[in-house]
Amino acid sequence: MEVNVIYHQSCLEGLKLMPDECVDLIFTDPPYYQFRAKNVQGLKKHTDIVTEFGFDGFKSEEEYLRFLEDVLIECFRVCKPGGSGYLWCGDDFVSYLNRMVERVGFQFRKVIHWHKTNPFPAIFTRKMYSNSMEMVVHFSKGSPKTWNNKPVNEMHNFIQSPICMGKERSKHKTQKPLKVCFPFIEISSNEGDLVLDPFLGSGSTAVASKMLKRNYIGYELSEEFYLIASKRLEQVPE
Ligand SMILES: C[S@@+](CC[C@H](N)C(=O)[O-])C[C@H]1O[C@@H](n2cnc3c(N)ncnc32)[C@H](O)[C@@H]1O
Repeated sequence: MEVNVIYHQSCLEGLKLMPDECVDLIFTDPPYYQFRAKNVQGLKKHTDIVTEFGFDGFKSEEEYLRFLEDVLIECFRVCKPGGSGYLWCGDDFVSYLNRMVERVGFQFRKVIHWHKTNPFPAIFTRKMYSNSMEMVVHFSKGSPKTWNNKPVNEMHNFIQSPICMGKERSKHKTQKPLKVCFPFIEISSNEGDLVLDPFLGSGSTAVASKMLKRNYIGYELSEEFYLIASKRLEQVPE
């Protein structure tokens, strides 16, 4: 298996080619299962919003959950004993994921909250709060083998930072800021360790890992995002 490579491929196919117990840290942000609000003209019952669940390309909740669990089963297989994992999710999905990571064999450890200080503003006519929180589910394969403590006030399960802006921002709508990725990777891996991201998007996990002198491997289905991630990686000095 080659490391420090990203693949334009479905992670389910790619993960199956990886050997057992080769990964030190899984850090990933799967396609979201999320609550979406939508205005529908002419509907009398709801005058302001109609709600639906969106699955980023999946036909149903069942299909989405099965896919995600299949990916997590592979993640468990490729993770070394004592490896850690971090899974981004929205606040409407966190309780599913806690149970799913346990079901595939990991230990659920904690939910971490990211407060986005500059979220997209709420649209007042829809009478909804703005989505200023994202969650990260932390889990491990047994007791974590790596735990590089930071000062006590940096070990809260809460981080606060703006969403990706300026030069760092790519076309990817859910790009995670590097500043938010760094602490998790630093705490749960060491230099030279292998970090896996099955859902690379614009490549933030791989870029952060390379900057922190970790090895990386990852998958991205969309060619557009794969190319963005490749370009970002090229710009990180060796
Ligand atoms: C929430 S985004 C990840 C964003 C990323 N954290 C970043 O900072 O840019 C999820 C990504 O998973 C990709 N994806 C969806 N299904 C996939 C699959 N089967 N294999 C690999 N990638 C997939 C989507 O194209 C999307 O870019």
